[in-house]
Amino acid sequence: MSSQEQPDQYGVAGHPVSHSWSPFIHGLFARETRQSLTYRLYDFTPAEFHERVVEFFASGGRGLNVTLPHKIAAVDVANELTPRAARANAVNTLAVRSDGRLLGDNTDGAGLVHDLCDNLGVVITRRRILMIGAGGAARGVLAPLLALEPAELVIANRTEDRAQSLAREFQDLGTVSGAGFRTISGGAFDLIVNATSASLSGEVPAVPDGVIGDETLCYDMAYGKADTAFIRWAVSKGCTRALQGWGMLVEQAAESFRVWRGMRPPTAHVLTALKERALRI
Ligand code: ATR
Repeated sequence: MSSQEQPDQYGVAGHPVSHSWSPFIHGLFARETRQSLTYRLYDFTPAEFHERVVEFFASGGRGLNVTLPHKIAAVDVANELTPRAARANAVNTLAVRSDGRLLGDNTDGAGLVHDLCDNLGVVITRRRILMIGAGGAARGVLAPLLALEPAELVIANRTEDRAQSLAREFQDLGTVSGAGFRTISGGAFDLIVNATSASLSGEVPAVPDGVIGDETLCYDMAYGKADTAFIRWAVSKGCTRALQGWGMLVEQAAESFRVWRGMRPPTAHVLTALKERALRI
């Protein structure tokens, strides 16, 4: 609680944003950790984003999550970036510091790694990882994955050049290479992460079937009430562990909560409650 006895104000800025589960998630985090705060939806158009964010913080707001399409614009609103946000060149969390300056952070990669490693027991170290997609979603999670030292990480993208240049940007962090869908080599991968936006339009990236083997875990960063097209494709190719990104959603939120409140909330209950609610309506 702030000195005026008003709950601290947080929220998520996006466009559109009405579908966001973040108020539900942060509401449960606040309840579980007995923190007094509000968390609201802010629909800001790209043209007004910068000004409205500045207004939010000027009027006492403590923190914002930033979602599509503002994650790159938020880099310019921040007065300084955490190293992981600078690497991602994208911000999903803004926090006001005690000196009034705005800190830009990116919790997406940590969210993915927490879900994979802590919730699902996936081993990354010395395993072969295939990242499908070379846009902002892929960029945001590369550094934390490479920090776990996979044997190799292949970025495959419909537009091969983008995969190649993204791989070059991260080559100082580990064994990472770029490929087109037809030039992926080396057989089955241990983990395949879909970081394309194809699921949003019900499409499946045209990767060859041979990337999936008996032990492959397929993970879609997207999520929805029904299985995504990528999940359906993976299952149809014999994948026995194909998962949507609900856990990443909750874990990136927990990381944001930690940045703002200095404590990481427990996530297991929240993930269960979120899935129950989201799959019911
Ligand atoms: P985001 O921030 O969500 O990553 P983005 O930067 O526009 O958005 O990137 C979208 C990613 O999804 C890209 O890797 C894109 O491939 P291209 O670089 O070739 O455009 C990928 N993508 C989108 N639709 C796709 C589809 N139907 N099949 C394969 N890849 C797709």
